[in-house]
Amino acid sequence: MYPLLFRLVLSRLDPEFAHHAAMLVIRGAGLPPFSWAARGLTAPDPAQRVQALGLSFPSPFGVAAGFDKNAVGVRGLAALGFGHVEIGTVTAIPQEGNPKPRLFRLVADRAVVNRMGFNNAGASAAAARLRRLRRRRPETVIGVNIGKSRVVEVEDAVADYVASATELAPLADYLAVNVSSPNTPGLRGLQAVETLAPLLRAVKGAAGTTPLLVKIAPDLPDEEITAIARLAVDEGLAGIIAHNTTISREGLRTDPAIVEAAGAGGLSGAPLKQRSLDVLGLVRSVVPADFCVIAVGGVETAEDVQKRLDAGATLVQGYTAFLYRGPLWARQINRGLRDRLQA
Ligand code: FNR
Repeated sequence: MYPLLFRLVLSRLDPEFAHHAAMLVIRGAGLPPFSWAARGLTAPDPAQRVQALGLSFPSPFGVAAGFDKNAVGVRGLAALGFGHVEIGTVTAIPQEGNPKPRLFRLVADRAVVNRMGFNNAGASAAAARLRRLRRRRPETVIGVNIGKSRVVEVEDAVADYVASATELAPLADYLAVNVSSPNTPGLRGLQAVETLAPLLRAVKGAAGTTPLLVKIAPDLPDEEITAIARLAVDEGLAGIIAHNTTISREGLRTDPAIVEAAGAGGLSGAPLKQRSLDVLGLVRSVVPADFCVIAVGGVETAEDVQKRLDAGATLVQGYTAFLYRGPLWARQINRGLRDRLQA
């Protein structure tokens, strides 16, 4: 049903408009009586619970950052079966993001290119929403992904991240430092170990007891990925999220003219599958067994999730395939994982 709806209707809509329309439906799914009905249909099997970061996740599978930038759809996403929702990226200062259009489908690759540029309502607005959510605790874990405000110079990034962490850590189940989005000038440069170490140390100080993770880019050379993984362990972080979108356009099936027309931005979806497994293997090879590694990139099916769990992921996230597979995506994954558990 959804593939037909996607082909006939949704794929003809502007992708960002389609996202906002989908978010309305998701928000509706979070309200009673729809949430009760949805949960009956989508609730993960109790055997799928994962204990990590000192938290109990209803399922190993969650929504990656960027889908719900302002924490407006958390209850709906929980009702649809996601075991955690990473909201954000949130910046200390509210910002509009890049000019539209800034989101493009590459249908032949089951991928998208985005250069959203951290459009979000800012840390104070996110904090207000999270406070309301906490009162009616949804059945999901809430991670908060923070990034640098665009108007802040890279040299002043530490104070900007610390401002967000101070406001949001007390309201987050875990906090993720995003230094890997390609759409904020200079951001990915913060991944250099010499600049990352003081940033992580300062944010960790502000985060207090809230588990802190760092989200990395897939385009780093392998040695840098392992160096960051070691740094994260040395700095006492709770985990790594691997990984963000790529700036590479290699190996795509989409007509090069369409890829060219989309322009700059991060590529996500099915083409990331192999790199995400490789990066997961690299990170896992240098961190302790109990260190949390969240695998993200190119996940479409329960088999993809299982592969990552088998390769050492503690938890798995996805975003792009949600656009292609529709509202029952988390349910399909949870059911597929359950069937594997029972097989
Ligand atoms: C993203 N992603 C992202 N990541 C992040 O840390 N902060 C963000 O604000 C965003 N924004 C964002 C917008 C859009 C439109 C997309 C498609 C992606 C990256 C996302 O969290 C994930 O790391 C990648 O998309 C790879 O996973 P998938 O999409 O291949 O499952």
